[in-house]
Amino acid sequence: MNTNMFSSGNREEAVAEYYKLQAAGYHHKYYRNDSEFDECIKAESELLQNTFRGLDVLEIACGTGFWTEFVAETANSVLATDVNSSMIAEAGKRLSHLSNVSFSVADAYCLNNVSEGFTGAFAVLFWCHIPRQRTGDFLAILHGKLLPGSPVVFICQLEDSDVKTHKTDKYGNKLALRRKDGKDFTILKNTPKKNQLIADLKHLADDIRYSVFPGSSYWCISYKTRAGK
Ligand SMILES: C[S@@+](CC[C@H](N)C(=O)[O-])C[C@H]1O[C@@H](n2cnc3c(N)ncnc32)[C@H](O)[C@@H]1O
Repeated sequence: MNTNMFSSGNREEAVAEYYKLQAAGYHHKYYRNDSEFDECIKAESELLQNTFRGLDVLEIACGTGFWTEFVAETANSVLATDVNSSMIAEAGKRLSHLSNVSFSVADAYCLNNVSEGFTGAFAVLFWCHIPRQRTGDFLAILHGKLLPGSPVVFICQLEDSDVKTHKTDKYGNKLALRRKDGKDFTILKNTPKKNQLIADLKHLADDIRYSVFPGSSYWCISYKTRAGK
């Protein structure tokens, strides 16, 4: 492997660009004919549905809206956001029949044009892409959109499958090489441990709970926002 491929550059933009190209085929990854995987999806969707029942939920990085659809079954409303209009277009097409779901193109690191006052928030498979050095800013912006005491859930992967492509940058971020449509991308693929996640959250959250979905490679952290944080 050519190590120069781990070029520096804006990592957040590389992640966004990489997924922009995946929008059309992304949804298929959830249909694998794998009963363990399906069990995990069931456990994840139940947790999300129970957590957000009756709430007004802000979803970060919704992709094609796979999780949006589950949450919309029990939530009062869902605003599903993603930086890529290609993803929002796919999600919008799939979920146009759901009257309590709306969509907005929004960058998770600024959430411009997203109103305040939500009573819950979640993101699936996004935490791994947040630069370690931006975790605090990301959370402050997200929490600024939520009422105090709102539940928040993040679900992400324990390990990346192709660890051989990893390097670590000066902030401790793991970098992974990806190729899509003939283009090379260096994307962030962090796999934080429980202690790290709790350290990131404990000064701004209450009731923090960490778990790993049984038989799966997915972790979940849930908590409630604290007033003024
Ligand atoms: C691994 S996919 C997960 C999609 C969806 N949550 C799911 O689990 O199916 C990561 C998503 O993050 C979105 N994304 C990347 N950078 C973003 C950013 N800065 N703000 C908001 N969304 C972003 C991508 O467009 C992509 O839809």
